[in-house]
Amino acid sequence: MALLFLLAALVGCVVAKPSSENVTPVEITLYYESLCPGCRIFIPNQLLPAYTDLKYDYRSLISKLTLVPYGWVAVKNATSHDYACQHGESECEGNRLHACAIKYIPDQVATIEYISCLDQLESNYLTFASSQYPIDECQDKLPEGVYSKIMSCYNSDEAWELFQNNGKKTTSFFPKGGFIPYVSFNNKRDDELAISAFKDFRKTLCEAAGVADPDCSA
Ligand SMILES: *[C@@H]1O[C@H](CO)[C@@H](O)[C@H](O)[C@H]1NC(C)=O
Repeated sequence: MALLFLLAALVGCVVAKPSSENVTPVEITLYYESLCPGCRIFIPNQLLPAYTDLKYDYRSLISKLTLVPYGWVAVKNATSHDYACQHGESECEGNRLHACAIKYIPDQVATIEYISCLDQLESNYLTFASSQYPIDECQDKLPEGVYSKIMSCYNSDEAWELFQNNGKKTTSFFPKGGFIPYVSFNNKRDDELAISAFKDFRKTLCEAAGVADPDCSA
């Protein structure tokens, strides 16, 4: 018992970890876009809990997480930054803001918390097709000093470069189209797995990483 307390004190809190020797952490890539209803559901309700769960260490099953905010965009003239995003100009703004946030928030959990916060506000803005993306909201989710870095990026060509780079990643992953949000495991295209992950990310992650422990899928 004393040993258990000592261990608990050392790790800070007791989080169940995968015990099976066949566990292989997976690389996760999430293709999504701002203002997309499925994405607004998935990030706060599926992805975020996997990073904040106190009963099971799901994070240890993810070797790398890559977020790619872009989705379905018609490129009219890349030189003059003329793009038509699926849900209008405010979606393009959102995708650029997310791209800058992903680059400048040093901690991935804070990134997911910030994006989840924006996601939860998006519905208020969708009602007004012409309104701007809520770029000045959710600053309280950010580490000190990060918002100004995100804004410098957002208001410069860097945001367009990140946006275009996410466009390249998205079109090379979906050469003939597809659906989003799309959760890719180990950079593979597997639509069934992506749908399963959309419905229950933690359970699908446990299976993909080879965790037999029923605590993981619970
Ligand atoms: C795209 O935009 C650039 C810069 O404004 C312009 O010079 C070029 O002619 C445009 N291309 C087309 C195909 O409209």
